[in-house]
Amino acid sequence: MILVTGATGKVGREVVDGLLMQGWYVRAVSRRPESAGLPSSVEVRPGSPEDVPAMTAALEGVESAFVVLVGDVEAQARGFAEAAAAAGQLKRLVLLSSSSVVHPVSHRIGDEHRAAEEILSQAVPNATMLRPGPFHSNSLWWAKSIRETGRARCLVGNQPGAPVDPADVASVGVAALTEDGHAGQAYELTGPELLTSGDQVRVLEQVLGRTIGFDVASIEEAIGVFSAISGDPVTAERNVRALHSPQVPWSQVSPDGSRLLGRPLRTYREWAAAHRGLFV
Ligand SMILES: NC(=O)c1ccc[n+]([C@@H]2O[C@H](COP(=O)([O-])OP(=O)(O)OC[C@H]3O[C@@H](n4cnc5c(N)ncnc54)[C@H](OP(=O)(O)O)[C@@H]3O)[C@@H](O)[C@H]2O)c1
Repeated sequence: MILVTGATGKVGREVVDGLLMQGWYVRAVSRRPESAGLPSSVEVRPGSPEDVPAMTAALEGVESAFVVLVGDVEAQARGFAEAAAAAGQLKRLVLLSSSSVVHPVSHRIGDEHRAAEEILSQAVPNATMLRPGPFHSNSLWWAKSIRETGRARCLVGNQPGAPVDPADVASVGVAALTEDGHAGQAYELTGPELLTSGDQVRVLEQVLGRTIGFDVASIEEAIGVFSAISGDPVTAERNVRALHSPQVPWSQVSPDGSRLLGRPLRTYREWAAAHRGLFV
């Protein structure tokens, strides 16, 4: 039995599908099991990683887990670690972390994922860390404005990076859960090509067959937007400045994903073509 948290999300859902295709029994965790929309063969349990009693119950009989932490990442890591200790028999853990943990510019996203890696590595020795850069699917942030106004506004920097397909991240996760040789490893996962946000919009234009207006917010505007969402201007400024740094870890293509999967990772154009309907 393999447990998947964040199973209704962009990577988790693909991990569930990948495991089912290989014939594994999958138990999923969702805060809203009734609307999870997962295949009927998946046992869906209510909960979130920080909920120790719910996770302890969900981990019963589970030997491997794919862990996704969203929201208060550190609190969720602590909760899941406590539940894993209580449940006792978890042998293999694969964490969806972030390449922000190796970002030389300190910021909240890197700090919280680094803490989560440490907490979960102590709970389950030889855990495997997946450290992706930004997902192709982040451009869904533009979907509503592209549909409604034909424009996209880039909020966090426009420097080259190599976005990765969440489905490829999930494929690496499935390999790490089901194959030997991944214990204690950390994989940096990027897509196969460097693109700016402007380059991504040009790909979307070609895929959609229409022009899209594009502009880039100032750093001050981005800080204001994230500060309004989080209510924490200091953290918002640290995060935005880190994301504008030319040293972002995903500014270089990593070979890890294609080496592990034995094929090239999916391009942004492939992702855009597969998700075209969300932009029209
Ligand atoms: N997006 C990126 O570019 C990117 C890049 C690198 C790393 N990451 C990391 O990957 C992980 C997944 O990120 P994501 O954006 O792709 O997540 P996501 O797929 O949007 O969310 C995964 C699941 O988490 C649950 N969830 C959402 N918000 C929550 C909250 N506030 N508290 C508790 N549970 C919540 C939801 O499941 P239920 O409603 O079913 O409970 C959701 O389906 C995060 O740790 C993120 O930092 C993301």
